[in-house]
Amino acid sequence: MRLAERVSRIKPSATLEIVAKAAAMKSEGIDIIGFGAGEPDFDTPENVKKAAIEALKKGYTKYTPVSGINSLKDAIIAKLQRENGLTYNRDEIIVSCGAKHSLYNIAQAMFEEGMEVIIPSPYWVSYPELIHLAGATPVIVNTSEEEDFLLTSEKFERAITKRTKALILNYPSNPTGATYDLERLEEIARIAVKHDIYIISDEVYEKLIYTDLRHISIASLGEEIKELTILVNGLSKTYSMTGWRLGYTAGQKTLITAMNNIQSQSTSNPTSFAQYGGIEALNGKQDDVFKMVEEFKKRRDYIVRRLNMMRGISCFNPSGTFYVFPKISYYYGKNFKGHTIRNSMEMTEYLLKEGHVAVVPGAAFGADNYLRLSFATSMKNIEGGLNMIEDALDRLK
Ligand SMILES: Cc1ncc(COP(=O)(O)O)c(C=O)c1O
Repeated sequence: MRLAERVSRIKPSATLEIVAKAAAMKSEGIDIIGFGAGEPDFDTPENVKKAAIEALKKGYTKYTPVSGINSLKDAIIAKLQRENGLTYNRDEIIVSCGAKHSLYNIAQAMFEEGMEVIIPSPYWVSYPELIHLAGATPVIVNTSEEEDFLLTSEKFERAITKRTKALILNYPSNPTGATYDLERLEEIARIAVKHDIYIISDEVYEKLIYTDLRHISIASLGEEIKELTILVNGLSKTYSMTGWRLGYTAGQKTLITAMNNIQSQSTSNPTSFAQYGGIEALNGKQDDVFKMVEEFKKRRDYIVRRLNMMRGISCFNPSGTFYVFPKISYYYGKNFKGHTIRNSMEMTEYLLKEGHVAVVPGAAFGADNYLRLSFATSMKNIEGGLNMIEDALDRLK
């Protein structure tokens, strides 16, 4: 069949191959320790589940307004006011089927052929593809570990052309865990306002921070930057609700209305009873979030310390998320049984075959010298998996 040209513009997930190989090895009875998880290894809080079950029992099983029910929008508005110091009206909020869906709708509503969208690298795998699907051009701007993987205002300004429409800023960042302090955000906001560039601010990991840094939304830095910011957040990571598919966007009414139109002709509303769980997640007690963050912090401290003790590896200490992004390129050019490892994909394959651990190659995030390991797995797995990685690396000559 001849497929639409747009399909050829996106590449399939580079990690799927590894996932398939790991699954095949598992089915042969080989014990694989997975560091690939993009979701918390905790269950959704009980009170949230209960709220959704109640909604089902009450018969809230029908279509809802396309952009979400008012009570969920009100919970989002209250959250943004309480935690981010931001004021929005209902017509400036839309709930979608996960933050990924929010981002897809934003790209479809804002971008087209001839436009450029700046993406700092390392980046979350879906950003370039969402831009491609909208027909626009992603402009990748590399950040370095020496700069704490953060976009500087100089690099941002240098990447701006007449065609630049927006910057995608993700903080804390998947995959590096880096996040921005007030001063750096102010610098970026200043450049955005000066050149009239929109900022798509992906804040899905906002609550998963392990340092004294407080999460600040760039939208809260003044009226001008708020007008230019499209804030994206969701419930997946904070409340361990990845399967529920709830994400939201806050921004200018014109954009939200356009996204509503796109959503009305594609998915319609996010699942009705899931939305009721979402209200409870945002308004209810937050104890489970605090417990999860405490546990993630312990794991982060351990995994970073262990990785930095391994020969040839340096591991940036992430301020947030549940990922570490160690530099592994010291081993490129080294051999095992006559086979040379040249890049992050080959290293990932080697670690899977010889170490029985599944990691994600840095190349998928635009940084081939690195690997991404998720610590959303038990301490026992982390300890065992790191031992296996260390042994496998020691075998490289
Ligand atoms: C940076 C970032 N943004 C957005 C998402 C999408 O999350 P969801 O669609 O589950 O809300 C993810 C999930 O991996 C992510 O890492």
